[in-house]
Amino acid sequence: MIADPIRAHFEAHAATWDEHAPPDLDARLRRLLLPFAEPLRAAHLILELGTGTGACISHLRHYAPSARLVSLDLAHAMLVRARRRNAAAHLAQADVQHLPFPSANERCGFDLVICHNSFPHFQNKPHALREVRRVLRSGGRLLILHHLSREQVNAVHQRIGPPVADDVLPTAAEMHQLFDRSGYVQCWVEDAPTHYIAHAVRP
Ligand SMILES: C[S@@+](CC[C@H](N)C(=O)[O-])C[C@H]1O[C@@H](n2cnc3c(N)ncnc32)[C@H](O)[C@@H]1O
Repeated sequence: MIADPIRAHFEAHAATWDEHAPPDLDARLRRLLLPFAEPLRAAHLILELGTGTGACISHLRHYAPSARLVSLDLAHAMLVRARRRNAAAHLAQADVQHLPFPSANERCGFDLVICHNSFPHFQNKPHALREVRRVLRSGGRLLILHHLSREQVNAVHQRIGPPVADDVLPTAAEMHQLFDRSGYVQCWVEDAPTHYIAHAVRP
């Protein structure tokens, strides 16, 4: 029995997860990442949070062919599927609230942290944001991405019910507050009818 209800939920749904993906998911992911092609190309070390079955990995590889990419997830069953899809990926089972990496310094740290469709599930968001900030190098960037609108994401979680019913994507104002309190700069949020992007930089 898994004590963490969020982890138990994703462990249980991993086997059928990809059956629920939209048929144009790949095109949506390419579009979502396109504005960040330059920072992706320039990054040496990228961390992906909540990779699930690894849907983003090949797209991150496309934009960042020479970076070292580490993709992590809380649920082991999700990572098993991510491995099948991406044989050479660097995968890790970990909770974003306890990242298994040293604090960044002048010599090491992530250039980019990407989080697609997983931020609403982080139960202690201020803590998760501080933990991400800890491993980002100075000038490193955090991207929270969704290929659906905020309303659509929140409605999907409501429809699924517990334990994800209340896993909401914050409004732009709430996200700004979260970023500010966690010590980020250059924060902006695009809360659009087709997608959601939240961007922040570690000073
Ligand atoms: C909705 S799925 C999205 C998966 C993938 N990024 C995608 O776009 O298909 C959310 C993922 O976040 C993971 N997750 C939830 N809470 C987490 C946490 N605290 N730390 C790491 N991963 C987490 C879940 O296990 C799940 O695989």
